Amino acid sequence: MTTTVRPAGEADLPAILALHNHHILNTLSIWRLQPADLAERKAWFEGRLAMGFPVLVADEGGEAVGYASYGPFRTGEGYDRTVENSIYVRQDRQGRGIARALMRALIAEAKAQGRHVMVAGIGLPNEASVRLHAGLGFVEAGRLREVGWKFGRPLDLLLMQLML
Ligand SMILES: CC(C)(COP(=O)(O)OP(=O)(O)OC[C@H]1O[C@@H](n2cnc3c(N)ncnc32)[C@H](O)[C@@H]1OP(=O)(O)O)[C@@H](O)C(=O)NCCC(=O)NCCS
Repeated sequence: MTTTVRPAGEADLPAILALHNHHILNTLSIWRLQPADLAERKAWFEGRLAMGFPVLVADEGGEAVGYASYGPFRTGEGYDRTVENSIYVRQDRQGRGIARALMRALIAEAKAQGRHVMVAGIGLPNEASVRLHAGLGFVEAGRLREVGWKFGRPLDLLLMQLML
């Protein structure tokens, strides 16, 4: 099936919510513990758009099977040229180049917006994400030891950055 990358719309929010909650409940990629609801994702989506940040989806037959976005890296106008990305692809669609296509579109948008740096904060271990970002030109910028805690264990955060 053909996959296209397009801006997300409100109709994509249930699929985005399902992906988000899958990772909250089952993986180390999101360091939250309680599932979100649709109202929370809607507020997140509207907040991103209101701040001028993109939310992109990978569309297969009208269905969102992955999404990518970026938001602020840290608070304060001095950080406005730096963004932090997120990228998720549905498990049954992984390994087909969807994340790379989403990230390329996201990076193009960041450049068009005049951003200077994109940061990925990757909870370890996450070999797939590290390789995905490295393949796009991100380089390791630091590793914060045991700043996260999930599933009863401390977690390291790897920071990677791409000069846009
Ligand atoms: C990381 C993730 C987004 C990759 O999505 P994907 O669509 O499967 O990735 P792609 O098919 O576009 O692969 C692009 C590159 O990523 C790397 N990669 C992807 N999956 C990988 C895996 N299982 N093991 C090692 N490298 C992997 C490879 O370098 C790959 O390039 P290659 O195929 O030329 O070797 C996906 O595994 C995912 O959603 N994981 C859970 C959520 C997550 O961890 N998000 C990132 C949070 S920081």
